Amino acid sequence: MEVTFRIKRYNPELPGKDKPYWQEFTLKDVVATDRVLELLHRIKWEQDGTLTMRRSCSHGICGSDAMRINGINALACKLLIRDVGEKVQVEPILGLPVLKDLVVDMEPFFEHYRAVMPYMVNNTPVPADGRERLQNQTDKDQITETTNCILCACCTTSCPSFWANGKYVGPAAIVQAHRFIFDTRDQTSPTRLQALSDPNGVWRCRTIYNCTPACPRGIQVTKAIGEVKLAIRKNSTQNVVKVSEIKEH
Ligand code: SF4
Ligand code: F3S
Ligand code: FES
Repeated sequence: MEVTFRIKRYNPELPGKDKPYWQEFTLKDVVATDRVLELLHRIKWEQDGTLTMRRSCSHGICGSDAMRINGINALACKLLIRDVGEKVQVEPILGLPVLKDLVVDMEPFFEHYRAVMPYMVNNTPVPADGRERLQNQTDKDQITETTNCILCACCTTSCPSFWANGKYVGPAAIVQAHRFIFDTRDQTSPTRLQALSDPNGVWRCRTIYNCTPACPRGIQVTKAIGEVKLAIRKNSTQNVVKVSEIKEH
């Protein structure tokens, strides 16, 4: 089959190409199971070597190839051509500065990520056997889903609240915070919850729900944000708030 790509291009270093513009490419001999990323590679390797994009693993793990494909955020390596049709429009994810073609500056995204302290804090002595801090299955189940986040930014850059105000911490950072807030081994929940109570924290989420269907890992992003909102309201002197506890209120 023949597939036409319409790609948003931009190169700030080249006069004439330093404003965003659309360019079309036609590919022949495409099969239904080709991935969008493979076809972007074909365009780059066979037609225009200047086409610029991020990618690494090609298997939906590294999260580097988030793009807006036919108006919806996705990882180019996970989308098959049979799922997007014979006309494919590709543009950079929204809400972050575009550096070149499909590559955006991820620094504002990672700044929000760092602000939620995405690491475990536990100052008690390590267990006597000097090994791991163990969890039971119930405690682990509270965070299993949010540990699947690969920081691809599909959720944050599909969120109208983030488009309107880039200071909003965004759903990805809240998912990462959720992973530690509900981790029974962590001792910093109150600090994290306080940071997320900021005017640009969780309350900027208006439950628009774009983020959840955009997540390539199937994380229930809006639900996780709701649990963090409830935890903030319940924020007690306890170090750890359990999902089961906030659901009681
Ligand atoms: Fe990507 Fe999903 Fe993580 Fe958002 S929650 S950054 S969409 S993996
Ligand atoms: Fe945005 Fe998702 Fe909330 S799209 S407004 S973060 S539910
Ligand atoms: Fe790694 Fe797509 S290239 S997730």
